[in-house]
Amino acid sequence: MHRFKTIYFPKKRVKSEHATRVNISIPPATDKNGWGESFLNKVFELSGVQVRSLLGDPMLDHLEEEASKEHRSLSNVILSLLYSKFEEGKFDNISSSSSNIKDNKGVGVTFSDSLRKSSFGWYPYVEGFSANYARDALLREVSKPLAVYDPFGGSGTTQLAASLLGIKSYYSELNPFMVKVCEAKVMSANWARNNFKIFKDNAEEYISQISRSNIEKLAKDVCLKSYSEAFPKRDFFEEEHLRHLLAALDIAKAYDTVNPHLGSIFSIACTANAVASSNMTRRADLRRRRPDEYKNRVVDVPKMIATTVRRMIDDVSGYPENSAETKLVSNDAKKIPDSYTEKFDFVLTSPPYLNGTNYFRNTKLELWLMSLIDSEKDLKKFRELTVTGGINDVSKKVNYEKFDSVEIVAGKLDLKSKDKRIPTMVRHYFSDMYEVMTGVYRSMKPEGKFLLDIGDSKFYGVHVPTHKLLLDVAEKIGFKLEHEHVLAKRMSRDKTELVQVELVFKKSALC
Ligand SMILES: C[S@@+](CC[C@H](N)C(=O)[O-])C[C@H]1O[C@@H](n2cnc3c(N)ncnc32)[C@H](O)[C@@H]1O
Repeated sequence: MHRFKTIYFPKKRVKSEHATRVNISIPPATDKNGWGESFLNKVFELSGVQVRSLLGDPMLDHLEEEASKEHRSLSNVILSLLYSKFEEGKFDNISSSSSNIKDNKGVGVTFSDSLRKSSFGWYPYVEGFSANYARDALLREVSKPLAVYDPFGGSGTTQLAASLLGIKSYYSELNPFMVKVCEAKVMSANWARNNFKIFKDNAEEYISQISRSNIEKLAKDVCLKSYSEAFPKRDFFEEEHLRHLLAALDIAKAYDTVNPHLGSIFSIACTANAVASSNMTRRADLRRRRPDEYKNRVVDVPKMIATTVRRMIDDVSGYPENSAETKLVSNDAKKIPDSYTEKFDFVLTSPPYLNGTNYFRNTKLELWLMSLIDSEKDLKKFRELTVTGGINDVSKKVNYEKFDSVEIVAGKLDLKSKDKRIPTMVRHYFSDMYEVMTGVYRSMKPEGKFLLDIGDSKFYGVHVPTHKLLLDVAEKIGFKLEHEHVLAKRMSRDKTELVQVELVFKKSALC
């Protein structure tokens, strides 16, 4: 049974100056790790501040570099260092309050950790999960997985973590823009590492082509017809910034003819800056900036894109050569092809939460920039297939899989919820997850593991214990629960506690 501890590293202890929370997993005591119960229990009781203090308040990056060099998990590196302090008797003197290192309780395993970590952070996907968490989860296994699958691939955190460890990965993802992000971060970055000089020369040439003076010249000829057709009367951008963005993107796309990987990486450099170039902001959802937000921001689109490309050169230079490939299995995770039956020995995912996030509307600017939608109306086709996680996804379908435990919660919502779509959303969510998990079960090897990170929700005062209800869904399919770990605690809007939980299922040997 693993336990988890969140450690907060303030921006001064992170090279990129992005304050970051990491979760370490504390394993059970075994002969192999040699860490006794008393040490592991003491570590579990330490606060994040005390952990950092015992480690000498290190830079997070130094710990990560050590983990990467030695092919170990970050958790293992931190625990080994703590163990030497434990043996030196340093745990006895640790004070609970006297440390002047600041703590921060944090809200769980999130993408903030991924943003600063090499190509994990090439596109700011707030819905993504932690790079360190995904890497540690893969390394926690006794034997290295051979084929990893993520049914909700998103921006590619699982795929990239596997790839960098030399593990082949597979994924499904409904949002075609996120597929492009994942392909750039895993496949194109891998190509760029193996052809570093070609990549660097072209990247430097691209940076010179998007110099301000050149972009200003090209921007005059940019046609805005398709923008006004896609988003009639919507001023998502200042015209000048939109012209600059489209001019830089046109140059990026032209690199497709030199090599599609170059086109792919430079296009992501442009689209990763789309929201920052616009009048919008993306916190949980994409929305208009308030007048008091980012008052001092300076939008220099060519400069922002050039900074991203320079970062990409730097990130790729630190990549291992010949990292493993990733492959798209299907767009819709409910439709895993039969050819993948019993293919995967490890499934790692962060499914949509029941919290209203609209993954498609949130990326509508990027979907349009990459010519993946012509207008907002085209978002409908994704809403029809998505796992129902938000009220706008709720459809009129009458045939869905029913579960007694879900019905109890949905019944309470029928009574309490002013918005009648909410109980329907809850019913459809578990039915959709049943469909996905049935396909996942079929595509797993006997004795394979399925690890998912999920949080619960609250609507109109009714608690929806998503992790408990998913357990019923999984058991109906045939999965056996191995572990349930609390990763972090969160607060709901009404200030009651919600949890982020890791569920670990196993497919039985006999099928
Ligand atoms: C929580 S996010 C996953 C984030 C990912 N772990 C990462 O780090 O970027 C859930 C993802 O599921 C995708 N999704 C929703 N319904 C889907 C479906 N039916 N099939 C495949 N993907 C789906 C969404 O587009 C979204 O990217």
